Amino acid sequence: MPVLAARASDLDTESAFEMLAKARALEAQGRDIVHLEIGEPDFPTPPHVREAGQRALEAGETRYVQAAGLPALREAVAEEIRRVRGVRIDPEHVVVTTGGKPVIFYTALAVVGPRDEVLLPDPGFPIYASAVRFAGGVPVPVPLRPEAGFRMRPEDLAERITPRTRLLILNSPSNPTGAVMPEEDLRRVAALAERHDLWVLSDEIYLRLSYGPPLGPAPSFYALPGMAARTILLDGFSKTHSMTGWRLGYAALPATLVETFVRLVVNSVSCTPPFVQAAGLTALGGDQGHVHAMLLEFAARRQALVAALNAVPGIACAAPDGAFYAWADVRALGRTSGDLADWLLHRAGVAVLPGTCFGSAGEGYLRLSYAASRETLAEAVRRIDAAVAGL
Ligand SMILES: Cc1ncc(COP(=O)(O)O)c(C=O)c1O
Repeated sequence: MPVLAARASDLDTESAFEMLAKARALEAQGRDIVHLEIGEPDFPTPPHVREAGQRALEAGETRYVQAAGLPALREAVAEEIRRVRGVRIDPEHVVVTTGGKPVIFYTALAVVGPRDEVLLPDPGFPIYASAVRFAGGVPVPVPLRPEAGFRMRPEDLAERITPRTRLLILNSPSNPTGAVMPEEDLRRVAALAERHDLWVLSDEIYLRLSYGPPLGPAPSFYALPGMAARTILLDGFSKTHSMTGWRLGYAALPATLVETFVRLVVNSVSCTPPFVQAAGLTALGGDQGHVHAMLLEFAARRQALVAALNAVPGIACAAPDGAFYAWADVRALGRTSGDLADWLLHRAGVAVLPGTCFGSAGEGYLRLSYAASRETLAEAVRRIDAAVAGL
């Protein structure tokens, strides 16, 4: 029997999809499950965006196109970066990708060498560590602490920098905690990146989904003076425009990385489908009313969910600053978060993620996505409350 390459076992997975599979298996047996495990907006893709995609399909935009992305979309992304972050960049520095996720992989493959160390948040998006390991690097978790509201502290980062540190991954607003790093902390991180000459991957996929006040974009690391020269900006359409299945994202890159990223696209997927890019172009144009409407609804759900969770004995939940996840402290319930999540799925029919899906520092917490209707959220908490009462 031929054997697998050693690196194949370095790939981890995203446990949200595993929990979804468990929940679906129960549903197949006739159980009614409330889904709060997957991080995707429940809103349909806005009609004007869908229509733009359909029009492009009808017009025959179904062939290979430039690997870096259609020039019109690269320009629109550069304009979006200027509008949201106040930074002017050359559209030549934008590379369009099939979702934001490939940017994580491309970054690891482009800048992480064997045994290079990569600082990343714990709890954090599990794909970061997976991609780093796959590239031969060593993930170095930076604990996000409850007492710091789960914001990455520059001093925790500084302590873990060694001569082998090559890359730092930031994610604000954060999946899974919803924490937003204040600009002052981002500036301190920028100073560290400069002093130690680090690459930075700034995953800003939730940047526009921030509750302030005021509602609107959280502070951007990429926008800080000098940082665009060492930062790979990850952003995309999945969350902000409710387009998860379209697979559309982008990177904004320092000049020296553009050609490598384009080659990574050519080598892996050739290009991003042009009719998908046409839909993305429409999503970025116009008044952005669809983004604001979604944000307002998320803000209302966040309030309702956090209040309801805090009313459950043994659960404490701070209001998240951004993204659409509640990060609930369940330490008082006296079970590991993995056991509790399984128990809630089977006993209460509620699918949530244990904090440990995001790293060992997530023990004692559950992640509940509020990208679900208010009725669904209310039903979920009602079930959790009833189940916890029997613990
Ligand atoms: C922190 C973070 N980064 C990146 C992504 C990737 O999103 P996509 O590939 O759908 O653009 C996600 C999706 O869950 C995420 O939570």
